[in-house]
Amino acid sequence: MASKIKVKAKKIIIAIDGPAGAGKSTVAKLLAKRMRFLYIDTGAMYRALTLKAIRQGLDFAQGRQLTGLAKKTRIDLENKSDGAIRVLLDGEDVSLDIRKPNISSFVSDTAKVPGVRKEMLIRQRELGSKASCVLDGRDIGTAVFPNADKKFFLDADFKERVRRRHKELKENGQDISWEDVRKDLQNRDTIDSSRKCAPLKQAKDAIYIDTTKMTIEGTVDILYKWINP
Ligand code: DC
Repeated sequence: MASKIKVKAKKIIIAIDGPAGAGKSTVAKLLAKRMRFLYIDTGAMYRALTLKAIRQGLDFAQGRQLTGLAKKTRIDLENKSDGAIRVLLDGEDVSLDIRKPNISSFVSDTAKVPGVRKEMLIRQRELGSKASCVLDGRDIGTAVFPNADKKFFLDADFKERVRRRHKELKENGQDISWEDVRKDLQNRDTIDSSRKCAPLKQAKDAIYIDTTKMTIEGTVDILYKWINP
């Protein structure tokens, strides 16, 4: 009698790290779509928690309070069939709210708290264990999935990153000046790369890609070719 042997397909993890405005999230989303993988926007998780902390009037200098809040907060990331991402904070759709400038101003303070990072890392690993996925963030290749199948570090000139972020915010209806975007990116770059716990850093085995002069589609093509040589 012939027996059926079930072979479990190996789950693939693609890690994309880099500073704000390097094109990570757009590229990661498109790459995930092309690969039919799940897209996990880890920055959205820190943003959602920051929104809740602001609403509750928490003091961002109090790491313990932020850690306590992280532990009792539910954050869900949904991949919609049209490719869009929905972020749910305790069940409420906050996808648009978390992109606002006031969240960007405080999110690095939330993300530098070790207890918050510990909590998020557990959740990100759990999400990544469910299916093949593309994750983008700051510490995916160094801390969350150090054994990821492929790691990329996307970067771009500072001016170009400011230009992209400013354009994106304007397109989303945000009234923000170029100078304010510049200050926000500079501030976040400094905090994200100098914090003690899992700072923004290129993993030793990550492929470095400077996207300054590249289009989104061109960047996705390059990553796709590295994954499927
Ligand atoms: O990718 P983003 O701009 O939405 O991320 C918002 C902030 O969250 C970013 O300034 C740093 C933090 N972050 C982090 O520390 N680790 C991650 N894996 C993702 C984001």
